[in-house]
Amino acid sequence: MCGVVGYKGKEIKIIDIINSLKLLEYRGYDSAGIAFSYNGNLVIQKNEGKIDKLLSSFNGKYKDISSNMIIAHTRWATHGIPNDINAHPHLDCKKRIAVVHNGIIENYKELKQELINKGHVFVSDTDSEILSHLIEDFFNDNKGNNLFEVILNIVAKLKGAFAFVAIDNELQELVAVRYESPLIIGIFDNNNYIISSDIPSILRFTKKIIPLENGDIFYVNKNNEYKIWNFLVNKEVKRNIEFISWDISIAEKSGYKHFMLKEIMEQPKVIKDTLLERIDLNSYVVNLDDKVKNLIDLVIDKIDNVMYLACGTSYHAGLLGKYYTWELTNFNSDAFYASEYRYITKNINLEKILYIIISQSGETADTLFVSRELKNLGANIIGIPNVIGSSLYREFVSFPTRAGIEIGVAATKTFTAQAIAILLLNLYINSIKDEDNPILKNLIKNLNEFHIIVDKFLEDYMNIQELAIKYKDYENFLYLGRNLMYPIALEGALKLKEISYIHAEAYPSGEMKHGPIALIDSKMPTMYLVPYNELIYKNLSNIQEIKARKGKIIALVDNKSLEIVRDYVDDVIVLPYVDKFLQPILFNIALQLFAYFVADLKGLDVDQPRNLAKSVTVE
Ligand code: F6R
Repeated sequence: MCGVVGYKGKEIKIIDIINSLKLLEYRGYDSAGIAFSYNGNLVIQKNEGKIDKLLSSFNGKYKDISSNMIIAHTRWATHGIPNDINAHPHLDCKKRIAVVHNGIIENYKELKQELINKGHVFVSDTDSEILSHLIEDFFNDNKGNNLFEVILNIVAKLKGAFAFVAIDNELQELVAVRYESPLIIGIFDNNNYIISSDIPSILRFTKKIIPLENGDIFYVNKNNEYKIWNFLVNKEVKRNIEFISWDISIAEKSGYKHFMLKEIMEQPKVIKDTLLERIDLNSYVVNLDDKVKNLIDLVIDKIDNVMYLACGTSYHAGLLGKYYTWELTNFNSDAFYASEYRYITKNINLEKILYIIISQSGETADTLFVSRELKNLGANIIGIPNVIGSSLYREFVSFPTRAGIEIGVAATKTFTAQAIAILLLNLYINSIKDEDNPILKNLIKNLNEFHIIVDKFLEDYMNIQELAIKYKDYENFLYLGRNLMYPIALEGALKLKEISYIHAEAYPSGEMKHGPIALIDSKMPTMYLVPYNELIYKNLSNIQEIKARKGKIIALVDNKSLEIVRDYVDDVIVLPYVDKFLQPILFNIALQLFAYFVADLKGLDVDQPRNLAKSVTVE
């Protein structure tokens, strides 16, 4: 978590760097800070709270000034509470070195003690502050003539995960190090360098980027010449400059009140893009990217199980995948939270399993660490990242979603893209075994037209907005769904929890009578997902059980189930009837809108809910 930005080159306005930092605020917003070289001095400004507070704290003082060397940081607190002192950048004793850091230095306590014994005075409770003091200490002890040489010695002492940028105001040098946390370099006008945790904040300056690899040290000297050294292989390395085709508008709200609403509305396009060239409507086949197809073809006769691993919303997509696999292939299937699977990787017959690992950011520590362990053991793995260039994308055979950058902290369009990608994988597996399957052909046809239905549905959401007004003040919600709708009940409840801070529990509908029913009364409404399918009368029985206990029910129905359900519930949200395998995706979009409107009506910070960060790079 945390977002770091660095800059070195010709003089630019520091406000430009602060604006870039703002595009990383989704990574954490407990505090913000900046340090820059100005008239020979190292100027630092930082505070608890968001970047807007940092801007107002300048009082117009430094805002319009320029600098040739700048670092900035937005924090998601791990070590030390969010306050002004724990905010980054951190300095050395002589105020010559400044550092911003994303990650955790696990052995910071012992390193800090050694430095204190040598006379260093620490001011913060963070693990990160040891970096600036270590640099100072190594210079004091002549363990390096420049920032690069010093850092090369220092990284050998560090344990944990770290992406950091350090500047030396005296030598006018900058160093950026990537280890287990992401860091990307943007290059413009030959020798101007913008460094960031993610691509959007670089796009304001350039589309030419170098995604650093694990272990890379990026060093820029006084004359703005750079080199990259990888400390894992211990030699200088050349990295290709890549061209990013994304448009900067993806990082703008484009007239919407929030990124979350914009991203919900983008879903028809996301569906179309994720399918592009992956389904062939002449022959009704799924065309997977070569590497993914080759891997599946290679293992298909050996495996008997498809296992989905992920966290949070991506886990819910994986859980939906579990149902897709059961229904569409001959294989067994399961889904696990990545953080839990880590402890049960022993005694597994890896040859029998195809792992599908899902992560929007491609940087989630819980997900990446278990994936790497499985990879080392020789497991068959397909990654589904959204962020191109992320660790999941680079280190594994990857089948990327094409949702574009998601800025709202709560995942919306990326869930939809993940569900579509997982469906495609299962359709491909199905087609290997049974090419002429009519279900397959029909589903491919329906998939192709799905974006049109979603687009039409998104044209009018008045009814959902009205229900949000009616229900926004309830303090607890129950979300129920059966079979393919169970993962959606979980995801709908998560959306409501994380952005509106309303407690919401989700269960498979059949489980309600085994305990949660005790919670039902007139103060606990149920969001019940009831599409038209063979389970409808079972759902109707559960609905009546809730009504018998004075529970209020909002039913999500389609225009086929509406008539059957209408008289038994308090309110309905009506969706178009679609293919059974697409129902979950459509129903989820309605729940995203409900959560969005509730949170907005409550006046909450929809795009940046409290305590969260979009990319969770700590375990
Ligand atoms: C919820 C949300 C999180 C993420 C989770 C995994 O709206 O965004 O639950 O889904 O942190 O993130 P990724 O998919 O980046 O691995």
